[in-house]
Order: sequence, then structure tokens, then C-alpha cells
Amino acid sequence: MLKEIDRYLITKDTGYYVDCTFGGGGHSLYLLNKYKNINIIAFDQDTDSLKRFNENPELQKFKDRITFCHDNFRNIEKNLKILNITKINGLLADLGVSSKQLDDKTRGFSFNSEDFLDMRMNKENELTAYEVVNTFSKEKLQDIFFNYGEESFSKQIAQKIVEERVKGNIKTCNQLKDIICKVKRAKGKINPATKVFQALRIYVNDELGSLQDLLNSIANVLDTGARATILTYHSLEDRIVKQSFKENKSLKIINKKVIIASEQEIKENPRSRSAKLRVTEKQDEL
Ligand SMILES: C[S@@+](CC[C@H](N)C(=O)[O-])C[C@H]1O[C@@H](n2cnc3c(N)ncnc32)[C@H](O)[C@@H]1O
Repeated sequence: MLKEIDRYLITKDTGYYVDCTFGGGGHSLYLLNKYKNINIIAFDQDTDSLKRFNENPELQKFKDRITFCHDNFRNIEKNLKILNITKINGLLADLGVSSKQLDDKTRGFSFNSEDFLDMRMNKENELTAYEVVNTFSKEKLQDIFFNYGEESFSKQIAQKIVEERVKGNIKTCNQLKDIICKVKRAKGKINPATKVFQALRIYVNDELGSLQDLLNSIANVLDTGARATILTYHSLEDRIVKQSFKENKSLKIINKKVIIASEQEIKENPRSRSAKLRVTEKQDEL
């Protein structure tokens, strides 16, 4: 939804814009190419994203206009202060994991794999999905699957995990997926493990807490008239963004109706099927 982000985000073609989720740099590159006088402050908590930024010649062409912060975007205010930037002209976030992270066989995000159950976006954090699955109580697992995956079989899946892990630790994504499939049958094309994997990923990375912290900072960092565009991929994230924009008196909602991907984009990039874009604008301080 690059075109939509461009259309809603850019209100001035100069100054600082923050890309909260740099990933492979696709969004930043597009904007830097199109707007010759903007600078980007890029956040990503994954060292692989920083490595890509340092090693990709296409991105290095813009090294004078990109400042990379290897940090969680929840720390945006702290980082902007360090950089001596008081206000920014716009902010974008494209939440969740990247296709590179999903495809990387060492990260444990994808259920059809022999990957170690890791799921950390920031490899410097301690908590892994392996630890959650093998050490958390049945009740805690059930809560995680229900609250972060909206999984209706939470109780049965948590029970099965606790029974199975007595025989030996659950180490790989395939092992966990097979346990889930003993409790839950496949319906249509969706893998029965989808919701539990989403829940574990959200929990391990404190995704909703980080998002809430970012949303709490938005009105403090945006200049008057500047906008934030947030792309979400599941209802839990979208609900938090919608609510936060609505509650903040110094933010005006720009799109009353959520923006979704076109049929054409969904055909080219199936992940965009679940994408929802919300836009807000900073109002004049009274
Ligand atoms: C969907 S991808 C973004 C892809 C990017 N727009 C591009 O064009 O390549 C999300 C990225 O955000 C990063 N990320 C997710 N949550 C984050 C957080 N709380 N703080 C910093 N980075 C985060 C992930 O590591 C991942 O690289």
C-alpha cells in the first residue's frame, strides 16, 4: 500500500520523516527516491535489518539521508531527543514481521519448518517462544492463545502442550504445529496452527505493548499538520490504533473508513489482503 501511504503521509516535501519499521527499506527507499529533500529516521529492532541497510548498495546510496536506530519504536521519543530532533513531518509504521523474517529458517516464525521455536524480532531479547511453550503454566498458555490469537481451542491446545512436553521439550515449529493439529482440525486453507503462532509471536515480542507506547508518543513528536500512517495486519492491532487515534484530543482522524489494498495489490501480494491503513493528523496546540 505504498501509493496510499505516500498519498496520505507526505504533507511537506522537506524535513524528517520516521519509518518505524524499516525492514528491507522498501517504503523508505520509495519516499527518498521521490522526495529529494526529506530525511528518514529508520527504526528496526532486528539486527538483520540493520545489516541489510549497511550492506545493500541501493540503500547505502541514501546513507546521508537515513539515520538508523536499532531499537524498538516504542523508544521513539528517547531516540529523537538523542538526535536533537524536536518535531517530525510524518511517521509511518508497517507492523508485524517481514516476509524476509518469515522465510528465514533460523527465526522460527513459520509453522511449516524445522526451525527452532525462537520468534524473537530482536535477537538480543531473552524470551523465546521455546521458553514460553516449555515452561509456562497451562493457564498462562491458555491466556496467551486466547488474548493474542483469539483462539477458541486455547484450553485444549494448552492442555495438549503440557501433556506432550512431559515426554521431551518441544523444540521446533513443526513439533508445535503437529501438537496443535492433534486438537484442532484444518478448516479450508487456513492452517490450524495460525492463531497460536500469531499469539506466541505477539507475546514474545510484546507487540501490542510496543504499539501502545508508540501511539502514546505520536502527538508529542509530530509537528502541527504532520501525519502518522499505520498499517496493521490483524484485528488486535487495528483496534488499538483506532481507539488511540479516537481518544487523543490533539489528533484528527483523516480516514473515517479504513483504507484497504486494491484487488490488484492483493493479487500481486497476498499478505496485503489483511492490511488496514489508518491515518491521523496532529492538530494545532491550543
Ligand atoms: C512488515 S516489516 C516492514 C517492511 C518494510 N516496510 C519494508 O518496506 O521492507 C516490519 C519490520 O518492523 C520491525 N518491527 C516490528 N515491530 C517493531 C518494533 N516494535 N520496533 C522496531 N521494529 C519493529 C520488524 O523487525 C520488521 O523488520
